[in-house]
Amino acid sequence: MLPSRTDFPEDFIFGAATAAYQIEGSRFGGAGPSHWDSFAATPGNISDSSSGAFACDHFHLWEGDLDLMRDAGFDAYRFSTSWARVMPDGRNPNPQGLDFYDRLVDGMLKRGLKPFLTLYHWDLPAALADRGGWRNRDSALWFADYARVVHARLGDRLTSTATLNEPWCIAWLSHFLGHHAPGLRDIRATARAMHHVLLAHAQGIATLRAEGAKNLGIVLNFETAHPADDSQQSQLAAQRQDAIYNQWFIRALMGQGYPPAALEGLEPHLPQGWQDDMQAIAAPLDWLGVNYYTRTLHAHAPGLWPNDQASHGPLPKTQMGWEIRPEGLSEFLLRLSRDHIGDLPVHVTENGMALATSGDITDDRPRIAFIRDHLLACQNALARGVNLHGYFYWSLLDNYEWAHGYGPRFGLVHVDYDTLARSPKASWHAFRAMLGGQVT
Ligand code: NOJ
Repeated sequence: MLPSRTDFPEDFIFGAATAAYQIEGSRFGGAGPSHWDSFAATPGNISDSSSGAFACDHFHLWEGDLDLMRDAGFDAYRFSTSWARVMPDGRNPNPQGLDFYDRLVDGMLKRGLKPFLTLYHWDLPAALADRGGWRNRDSALWFADYARVVHARLGDRLTSTATLNEPWCIAWLSHFLGHHAPGLRDIRATARAMHHVLLAHAQGIATLRAEGAKNLGIVLNFETAHPADDSQQSQLAAQRQDAIYNQWFIRALMGQGYPPAALEGLEPHLPQGWQDDMQAIAAPLDWLGVNYYTRTLHAHAPGLWPNDQASHGPLPKTQMGWEIRPEGLSEFLLRLSRDHIGDLPVHVTENGMALATSGDITDDRPRIAFIRDHLLACQNALARGVNLHGYFYWSLLDNYEWAHGYGPRFGLVHVDYDTLARSPKASWHAFRAMLGGQVT
């Protein structure tokens, strides 16, 4: 059983989240190639060699998917527009792509769902990747243009807009660890991406504000970083990881400057004059999105900065091998409000677990316990004064889990990738019981 809705403030928003590349099918509707299409077409990058070419075919099946949101009783749907669908060559709008999102947003409103848009959930047009992608300072201008085009078409009906999803993944995971597109392992590229994504956010916000857009934010991911043992070296490794992952973006956004423990390695590789951008990056926001899944352990690795050896500890794990630690969510919410954002409104924009089911594909009872424990963590944070306004489960549907392909299943709704049949799982029913959704 999930907690009762009445245990939350009356206007607390419950939703579920998805992202374009993970569900839509990038082959459809005149979308251009994105760097994810080319990354996925390169041997060794994706564990099952799959791509988002067809995904859940949400491009054609979106009405049924929105019905599932409504029938569960959700208040809001967090979705993303695909840059490569809206601008196949990265610069010129594709009417067919914009029409799709126009219908989608109308479909949400028709079903009483508040549209929470994320502008960039990782599908950079390949034409812009060819020009250096996030390494190129012009990426900030390209992004602002894209934001303007999407706002012009959808802005009158959106509840809220986030610029970027998880800049740590866009920059570090993709340019330093090489696990996501464009698959680089290069510290200069990383430092530039770490800065340019924030500059893109800033230019996007400035453009959207000039166009009269309201309720603007950004979605960051957080993971508690613990020393793997009690040596001083492991403590240092955990602190460095915390600076890179949990502090770099929020500190810059709040006008607190980049954290010294991350600058020590990145500064020599940052673009010249980066300091001059910091004021624009700290432009006021209306809300912050927090994605929270797990924690990691850190020990000293010999060799080069950041000398980090990451591992997972002994706690129970999800299908991703990620430890389940709900108290980390309340810890982060409290820490953010204490150290960085004060009473800026916060939404948990993602939280969820991948879970393999066997036999009955809809029996996902461990997921219900996972959600319950994280909702209790939200209540704990609320009771301690955090200005928390919403919780979005990741994800509505099983979908394309990036480099892990279609193996991990995060959905409240099972997707059969051969027939595309959707089957609501026990967790979907648990939300419906909690939220008073329609019985169909
Ligand atoms: C973070 C990302 O925003 C989303 O795309 C991904 O599928 C989930 N977390 C799970 O890894």
